[in-house]
Amino acid sequence: MKAIVVYESHWGNTAAVARAIAEGMGPEARVLSTAEATGEAIAGADLIVAGAPLLGFSLPTESMLKGLASNTGGNPTPDLSHPSMRSWLEALPKGAGRAAGFETRIWWSPGSAAKTILDKLGAAGYQPAAKAQRFVVQGKYGPLRDGELERAKAWGAELARAMK
Ligand SMILES: Cc1cc2nc3c(=O)[nH]c(=O)nc-3n(C[C@H](O)[C@H](O)[C@H](O)COP(=O)(O)O)c2cc1C
Repeated sequence: MKAIVVYESHWGNTAAVARAIAEGMGPEARVLSTAEATGEAIAGADLIVAGAPLLGFSLPTESMLKGLASNTGGNPTPDLSHPSMRSWLEALPKGAGRAAGFETRIWWSPGSAAKTILDKLGAAGYQPAAKAQRFVVQGKYGPLRDGELERAKAWGAELARAMK
């Protein structure tokens, strides 16, 4: 099985969850940022697991990311070295594999990035293998709540079993 876990992450929380999911899936899974997950890298994928933070109640928009880039008010510096998941999904070539989506977020917020990810993966031909998943951070910038990485690893293992 060719499985790709692809992420957008500005303070490392979603990247850490992505790595834990891949660890749970096993050695066949590759973890790639949206910059690394080129059309060539994901060609023929049987499963794409895509994750992003929930920012401003939504899958991050370009205007939200522009705002982060110009915000130097003493906040933790965002990593803006890779494209948004939104633009990655827009450029995604058609495929025929399965899809899973996740987000990192604070616990009480309305909105879902993961559902938008699943919808857009579906439009590209990747049919859902699981329900959208949420992983929770403690503060606005993280860190992840205790136990979330273990939960991510277990979800990865569950996804790998569902693909057999
Ligand atoms: C500017 C900003 C806006 C945010 N908006 C939301 C939000 O609307 N809902 C939510 O649940 N969490 C929100 N968060 C929390 C992020 O989703 C959380 O920190 C996430 O884990 C960041 O992921 P990353 O470290 O992979 O970039 C926000 C955080 C920041 C810095």
